Amino acid sequence: MTSSPAAPTVRAIRADLLDFTATPAWGDASDNPGGSVRFRPDHWLLIGADGRITGVQAAATFEPAPGIERHDHRGRLLLPGFVDSHVHSPQVPVMASYGTELLDWLNNYTFPSETAWADAGHATRGTELFLDALLAHGTTTAAVYPTVHKASAEALFAGAQARGMRVIGGKVLMDRHAPDGLRDTVAQAERDSIDLIQRWHGRGRCSYALTVRFAPTSTPEQLAMAGALARAEPTLYMQTHVAENRDEVRWVAELFPQARSYLAVYDDAGLLHPRSVLAHGIWLDADDRARLAASGAHVAHCPTSNLFLGSGLYAWRAASAAGHATSLASDVGGGTSLNLLRNAAAAYTVQALQGQRLTAWVALHAATRGGAEALHLGHELGTLEPGLMADVAVWDWSTGSLDAERQRVARGLHERVFAWMTLADERHLAATWVAGQERYRRSTT
Ligand code: GUN
Ligand code: ZN
Repeated sequence: MTSSPAAPTVRAIRADLLDFTATPAWGDASDNPGGSVRFRPDHWLLIGADGRITGVQAAATFEPAPGIERHDHRGRLLLPGFVDSHVHSPQVPVMASYGTELLDWLNNYTFPSETAWADAGHATRGTELFLDALLAHGTTTAAVYPTVHKASAEALFAGAQARGMRVIGGKVLMDRHAPDGLRDTVAQAERDSIDLIQRWHGRGRCSYALTVRFAPTSTPEQLAMAGALARAEPTLYMQTHVAENRDEVRWVAELFPQARSYLAVYDDAGLLHPRSVLAHGIWLDADDRARLAASGAHVAHCPTSNLFLGSGLYAWRAASAAGHATSLASDVGGGTSLNLLRNAAAAYTVQALQGQRLTAWVALHAATRGGAEALHLGHELGTLEPGLMADVAVWDWSTGSLDAERQRVARGLHERVFAWMTLADERHLAATWVAGQERYRRSTT
């Protein structure tokens, strides 16, 4: 948080404000577990000229001064913008592809589609569509995989910067087991990565992630190169996939017979550290979870993807008990929605299938403050704390007679928010703000 004096308040948004001040306990569906939930109905969120939150005031007793731009969303819900910790910018065209599990899905649909991003103009157009779609689904921060092509990472950073969005991303590393036009080499990948790091890491709201697609598409030499870059610059992120699908896990065991586990392939290469974001983590064992906790790395849980591709059920409670964080992610195009509410609802289902209960608090915390903290961005975003960036989204509690009726009968805050999380989607989104600028507004508000 900044210690310099706050910029003067220039605009104010009126709504029901919801955020988290601590991590809610697993399974506690009370209205405010351990004081972690902060619900402030009918308040003004005040925003400074620098795009940061300057304060919060109750609408009953406060009137914004003349000259302050007002956005009156009374009766709506305002949350921090969602943090999507794992999503693929080129995969909008492969969403909802029929009939395959992971490895065939990659070979039949995803790799062929990603080869088209060799064309920089195509990559730029696809990236613009993708970033605008994130905003139209309530997401203001994302950890993104573009493609193997350097220009696709350029397009991501430039597009995010033009919108003021916080992004983490990097050119995808893949030098084997992929079609022509979608492979790099160790030397080229190293050159491209270093150049992109020098120009984009820490510029504006962009951070670079060494982006190993997954162990099967990188040679041991490429993993070692990525590990060396990680050691040389500890502020870099690392993102990859791990233990998503059983056939994939068997293949990794064949490719890396010396590794204790799939996770150990990355660990052995020096790629497990507090800024490592590992997607899926379904088929991990207790030793892997302990190692994740000890390393400070965390898992990006991708529930709509895991259900759609038939990958398996993520053991969120075991992860939490082992002491590593879990963030929430869409994994589009394996995932079927960019909207983290749809993914939160799917996450509830994934837990229900294992006899567990995911509260709205645990899910929405993972989509906001929890995701921000897991990505070491808690000082910048994820709550409505003064000094943080005004990255926020305003939602309707209901848009039709059915969910309105469900809201009307809800007893207590958890029931109300849980019903909202489960029934709402991006059609409930009224507006999205990034660094204090309105970047999306529903045309029918
Ligand atoms: N594993 C390697 N690449 C991918 C990808 O693009 N999507 C998913 N879901 N898993 C992967
Ligand atoms: Zn993915």
